[in-house]
Amino acid sequence: MNSIVQRVWDLPTRLFHWTLVVLIALQYATGEFNLLDMRWHFWFGYATLALIVFRVLWGFFGSQTSRFSDFLRGPRAVLRYLCDSMSTNPQARVGHNPLGGWSVLALLASVAAQAVSGLFSSDDIDTDGPLVAHVSDATVKLMTRVHHWNENVLLALVCLHVAAVLLYLIVKHDNLIAPMIQGFKRAPSAQSLRFSSSWLALLLFVLCAGAVGMLVWWAG
Ligand code: HEM
Ligand code: HEM
Repeated sequence: MNSIVQRVWDLPTRLFHWTLVVLIALQYATGEFNLLDMRWHFWFGYATLALIVFRVLWGFFGSQTSRFSDFLRGPRAVLRYLCDSMSTNPQARVGHNPLGGWSVLALLASVAAQAVSGLFSSDDIDTDGPLVAHVSDATVKLMTRVHHWNENVLLALVCLHVAAVLLYLIVKHDNLIAPMIQGFKRAPSAQSLRFSSSWLALLLFVLCAGAVGMLVWWAG
């Protein structure tokens, strides 16, 4: 069968993904296994927060395959995708599929909840998130509980995510990992996709990092 090499993921999305993977691993290593000082947990947390806010903006202003409007579909589209993927001749596609799109949203929401709740979390001994002093004790208790509870939700979502990617590789012989590294995928025919400038991504990321920096500075 003839096939062409198609650009699928832009550089900002790929950098976002693999930086996020490293940061989340470091967050568990510092939070759960006490590798490095808790101060590092905070620094990695701020970086994660900036990254996630950037990804939300990139979901509106980024390249076609990274936009929420491209991959968040209703239940009928998800059902159609499931039926199609079980057929003998499934349709080739680029970008997140309608089911994967919702798992992406769940992952982003869980990471965001973890990063935000961390700002208000306390171990009641010597480690307080930067916004603890600005809210009531009840809010700190609730956010600390969310930080602990969501730690397991995020872990479960990541396991499910990696299992799905491996299932595609082993069962469907569809390697999704290489395109997330290189940006390109083999497809039966070319699709015209719109790509946004990496400079715009850099500008958005600098703004996000600046906003997180200002928040932390303001919190003292
Ligand atoms: C902490 C662990 C991880 C998190 C939080 C995570 C999160 C995400 C997110 C949010 C996306 C959507 C990308 C976007 O549109 O911005 C994604 C996609 C993807 N991830 Fe991960 N990921 C993790 C680990 C991994 C690992 C270890 C692999 C490789 C085995 C992997 C392979 C992929 C692939 C191939 C895609 C693209 C899926 C597709 O083609 O639709 N991820 N991941
Ligand atoms: C996505 C990012 C994050 C992940 C994955 C994460 C993960 C974790 C984990 C696994 C723990 C250990 C909880 C336990 O003992 O069971 C923890 C504790 C903690 N984290 Fe995070 N965290 C993140 C972001 C943040 C941020 C941004 C802050 C604050 C700036 C923060 C502040 C704290 C604090 C204060 C604790 C101690 C709470 C306690 O022991 O009760 N975290 N985090």
